[in-house]
Amino acid sequence: MDQQLLSKTAAAMVAKGKGILAADESSGTCEKRFKTVGVECNEENRRVYRGLLFGTPGIEQYLSGVILFDETARQKSNDGLAFPQYLAKKGILPGIKVDKGVIDVPFSAGEKLTEGLDGLQKRMKEYFDLGCRFAKWRAVITIGKDIPTHTCLYANAHALARYAAICQEASIVPMIEPEVLLDGVHTAERSEEVHEATLRATYAAMAAYNVSLEHLILKTSMVVSGKDNPRQAGVDEVAERTVRVLKRTVPAALPGIVFLSGGQSDEAATAHLNAMAAMKGLPWPLTFSYSRALQNPALKIWRGQAGNAASAQKAFHHRAQMNGLASQGKWRADLEKQAA
Ligand code: 13P
Repeated sequence: MDQQLLSKTAAAMVAKGKGILAADESSGTCEKRFKTVGVECNEENRRVYRGLLFGTPGIEQYLSGVILFDETARQKSNDGLAFPQYLAKKGILPGIKVDKGVIDVPFSAGEKLTEGLDGLQKRMKEYFDLGCRFAKWRAVITIGKDIPTHTCLYANAHALARYAAICQEASIVPMIEPEVLLDGVHTAERSEEVHEATLRATYAAMAAYNVSLEHLILKTSMVVSGKDNPRQAGVDEVAERTVRVLKRTVPAALPGIVFLSGGQSDEAATAHLNAMAAMKGLPWPLTFSYSRALQNPALKIWRGQAGNAASAQKAFHHRAQMNGLASQGKWRADLEKQAA
């Protein structure tokens, strides 16, 4: 375990004005996304699309890191460089998704548990050798009638902690992602309660497995109303609830916190981040680690056509720039209109 390297990586991940692109969609998720724009989801199209995003001119100004899927970490850019080296050359940290997706929690309908611990120590060493310097593991928490259960929170928290300890031993910074889904009719208040219980369980498990808090990045969902609830909490309410939960549960020793977008609209994800980052006196830097909220406009423009690549890159650059500003509390809605 190289503590110096871990500290350097963690600090770089949350460097001022930058955030992280999640480009680690599994092939199944990628298929869903490509289908919406009529693109066949094969290995070459996935390589071309990711190459387009990573090759966006000037994107390194706003991206500290990119989370890769296993396949992408072994693919090459058009100029023949392996993607992790290609990104590193641009000053962007290559990261890797290491979980293997979710299974049903036994005896608890509707709840999920993340798999992928078997053989992880060996895989981690390989990812380090491929150039990956941070990793991601996503746990999924669903809000519904009588769920989440203690069993689900406990099992996922322990898997997150075991994964995090394995990462740190391999000198790879763990990003732990307990995602509370926004699907459902629940209120923002209920989402706040569930986030609190989830994060409490998560940090109790980190302590139980001796995970070093100084070398750990939290990737969290925001406290928003359930997608099907007719009353949607506004930007200030989301920001207040989210920051209150984080202050209650996340140790100040953490080098930083990043957010997932989780199905929020592109602009809502930016506005929420901006409102939180503008708050004074937080113990951690806050920034983005979005997939959909960074990629949506670019994917819609690209549609698998090489001739659309430059316009798609422009749209991606814009979202990254807006979120870079939001991570410093410097975004304003009229900056979106100026660009449109
Ligand atoms: P979204 O921003 O689309 O939620 O994706 C982030 C992510 O990494 C999910 O695991």
